[in-house]
Amino acid sequence: MTTALITGATAGIGAAFARRLATEGHNLVLVARNTERLQEQATELHDRHGIEAEVLPADLGTDDGIALVEKRLTDSRNAIDLLVNNAGFGNKGQFLDVPMADELTMLKVHCEAVLRLTSAVVPGMRARGRGGVVNVASVAAFLPRGTYGASKAWVVQFTQGAARDLAGSGVRLMALCPGFVRTEFHERAGMGTDNIPGWMWLDADKLVTAALADLSRGKSLSIPDPRYKALMGAVKLAPRGLLGGITSKTGRKYGPQ
Ligand SMILES: NC(=O)c1ccc[n+]([C@@H]2O[C@H](COP(=O)([O-])OP(=O)(O)OC[C@H]3O[C@@H](n4cnc5c(N)ncnc54)[C@H](OP(=O)(O)O)[C@@H]3O)[C@@H](O)[C@H]2O)c1
Repeated sequence: MTTALITGATAGIGAAFARRLATEGHNLVLVARNTERLQEQATELHDRHGIEAEVLPADLGTDDGIALVEKRLTDSRNAIDLLVNNAGFGNKGQFLDVPMADELTMLKVHCEAVLRLTSAVVPGMRARGRGGVVNVASVAAFLPRGTYGASKAWVVQFTQGAARDLAGSGVRLMALCPGFVRTEFHERAGMGTDNIPGWMWLDADKLVTAALADLSRGKSLSIPDPRYKALMGAVKLAPRGLLGGITSKTGRKYGPQ
């Protein structure tokens, strides 16, 4: 039996990873800040699927929180076979609207935690000759969309570079780039979603199924939906200036997160 550690496991995309991996019989380590919610989720997954679900409350916006998860990831008696770096959030507003402390917390959760947790888990995986890391980025990584998109661009570049460095080691790294997904994300950030057309919304469970299939195929970048694959193909061809104009017109409140 293998064990997966998921950050941001209690809601949205992370909870969909937890459901899917539990269905497949993987034991889980569930990470988020809200302990009560983690415990409820662990009990439900254990009762429904008969797997072991550990809870690890940690705030990845702090050094202590990241260190706690690093420690679990390097416990060789209880090895982690799959790490899903999924925890994340959005700040409402454009550049200079958001307090610097919130911008720095975003970098800590989206970039520093992803770097440190990946670096903690991979040496053991490499020694065992197998393992996987999914780093949840966003299609915003490919658009000029403020500090959120910039942090997700870092995730994509870091993951694809590390995947290349680890080629042939048996360890797979993949950046997952969803478009809009119905989760708690937008409400938590206080972002309106009324202007987002229905066809742009993805289902978290279907997204996770497609992502895990891409990981098993050895992809280092996953854009799991044909609609977004086509959109991102168009983005690659469009002049940067035009893209900037379109994305700033749609407004940071409504852009792909
Ligand atoms: N929803 C979208 O449209 C969308 C699109 C593209 C990419 N993404 C990315 O997908 C990932 C998951 O987002 P989601 O939409 O599933 O969000 P969500 O529904 O708001 O869930 C966020 C999860 O992360 C946890 N979390 C937040 N801050 C944390 C912290 N400082 N330390 C530890 N855990 C933390 C939350 O639990 P606690 O509050 O208890 O900590 C929760 O479990 C994020 O990286 C996001 O950027 C989302």
